[in-house]
Amino acid sequence: MCSDNLEAYIWYSNVFACYSNDIDRYYELLSAEIRRLNLDSKVLTTIGDYPLYFIESKNSAKKGKQRLISAGFHGEEPAGPWGILHFLSCLEPTKLTHINLNILPLVNPTGFAKGRRLNNWGENPNRGFPHPSMTESTAEQASLEGLALLENLDLLKAASKDGFLTCHEDVCGANGYVYTYESQHEPGTFSKALRDTLACYFPIVADGEVDGCRVNDGIIFNHFDSSFESFLVSSGITLACCSETPGMQNLDLRIQANAELISAFLGRK
Ligand code: NI
Repeated sequence: MCSDNLEAYIWYSNVFACYSNDIDRYYELLSAEIRRLNLDSKVLTTIGDYPLYFIESKNSAKKGKQRLISAGFHGEEPAGPWGILHFLSCLEPTKLTHINLNILPLVNPTGFAKGRRLNNWGENPNRGFPHPSMTESTAEQASLEGLALLENLDLLKAASKDGFLTCHEDVCGANGYVYTYESQHEPGTFSKALRDTLACYFPIVADGEVDGCRVNDGIIFNHFDSSFESFLVSSGITLACCSETPGMQNLDLRIQANAELISAFLGRK
């Protein structure tokens, strides 16, 4: 992360014919997809004037693998939420007899609407999730969005039992990479498949350090902090990926890459 918390990052999308922070258009198109695909949607809480949605396919809890997709924790990383919308808009309703959908499409709506990283209250929605190694005195406070996720933890843990994908962006980067978590010492097929999907769209970051984390072959492996992905893994889920598309590349390409990452994530056996 190199972005300034107060700076606005806004791009134009030719795919959606609007600016990346056009939140009214985002919710309008999302609602249309929820209706077309006959999905269930639930408002976990209201953040400012906006809903924080959890979306799932009908009877999702009763069948098959439970995998959760999330995006929009950081407001200056719009290709995740738009990527989810792009994925949904390409999905045939008949596909839903074979796959479950569990989606947090836009966690930080007030940040998204301004193209700024933090929410309207200056909080980072992807920090403040307690890690076992943190004492109360060193733990950061959860944000408004974070508190809503923690209040719905049973739902979100059940929805991510077989995997969690959270779509982020590195707005100052020209190369892609992933943070992944697996219950083994080396990256396995889960990590490599998602890294390889990203590599179809962008060059992968060179080996070295990113944000103080060791990156090898485009993968930062089993890095624990107070993020939501790290917290879910500490809570017992075994597979998680935080993807980072590069903000210096074309927005529509980043949107397509996120849609493809979602397909790859859901398509796993
Ligand atoms: Ni981020």
